[in-house]
Amino acid sequence: MIVLGIETSCDETAAAVVVDGLDVRSNVISSQVDLHARFGGVVPEIASRAHLEVVNGVVADALAQAGVGFGDIDAVAATCGPGLAGALLVGVSAAKAIAVTLGIPYVGVHHLEAHLQAAWLQDPAVEMPMAVLLVSGGHTMLVAVRGASDYEVLGETVDDAAGEAYDKVARLLGLGYPGGPVIDRLAADGDPRAVRFPRPMIGDGLDFSFSGLKTAVLHQVRRAPDMAVADLAASFQAAVVDVVVAKLAAAAEAIDARTLVIGGGVAANAALRAAVADLAARSGRTALIPPRALCTDNAAMIAATGYRRLVEDGPTPLTAGATPTLALPGLGRPRG
Ligand code: KG4
Ligand code: ZN
Repeated sequence: MIVLGIETSCDETAAAVVVDGLDVRSNVISSQVDLHARFGGVVPEIASRAHLEVVNGVVADALAQAGVGFGDIDAVAATCGPGLAGALLVGVSAAKAIAVTLGIPYVGVHHLEAHLQAAWLQDPAVEMPMAVLLVSGGHTMLVAVRGASDYEVLGETVDDAAGEAYDKVARLLGLGYPGGPVIDRLAADGDPRAVRFPRPMIGDGLDFSFSGLKTAVLHQVRRAPDMAVADLAASFQAAVVDVVVAKLAAAAEAIDARTLVIGGGVAANAALRAAVADLAARSGRTALIPPRALCTDNAAMIAATGYRRLVEDGPTPLTAGATPTLALPGLGRPRG
């Protein structure tokens, strides 16, 4: 089954063709980062307009790169939430228009379920249970995955997302947007022990908090304005990585995970990738660290999840819209 996936939930317009939920034939991403950079973050209205301008071209590229035409597609999937309302609507409307025109099923896909499904795109034989650390600009959570559609949220952030912390710290250091890649790069040449920033909630359950860490960086900059930016970046990054890796370790222990997985934009981070590989080696588990293109927002994960939802649940009605705060079905917090 050939599924076309479309992703427009935030600031990447993406389309991909995936066969039988596993075989990625194309994975095209058009980033709007340059449009938002001078505002220091994603501007929703600019995002919607930019998606509108490029979505048809991105879909055409995805089909061309996969060597298929519209007539070959069996279903079309789009991210229907969570995300920016206007941005989501562009992808959902494009997908529905294609579905109606071709007389094929439309499937609405949950963005976070798609990040979880990226593990299977990387390794179809991935061993369960897996402890997944999802760290992006909008979300930070730990999820136990015991089967292809069996998810349980073990913990999440009580304030900022990890990527949001990177972006806010980059802004206060005058490094531009998005902050993650530039802090990652600078940190490689800095001393992670230059400043001992707090490790918020490190021994305290599986939830996260990053807003205090951001404030600690602000105070440090005010106290010592001449400190090398690379040292600040490395020290901040060390605090984030220590916390998320300690919590991933605790989650893996709690569910006796066979596999450790990371996903979301922050999973592109070099220090985090190295620390998770190291944790896996130390704890006798397998690390599944997808390539950066499958960690950041992409449409291959949307097409793959669309395939799974179509097979298990059938098509999504064309009357269903986009939901900016969509909850993940079957994803409950553990009681107590
Ligand atoms: O998953 P994503 O592409 O978009 C969503 O938020 O859904 O994640 C974007 C976030 C941004 O906050 C960005 O600063 C962060 O991921 N990011 C990174 C790196 N690359 C992107 N954070 C740390 N290190 C990186 N190399
Ligand atoms: Zn995402």
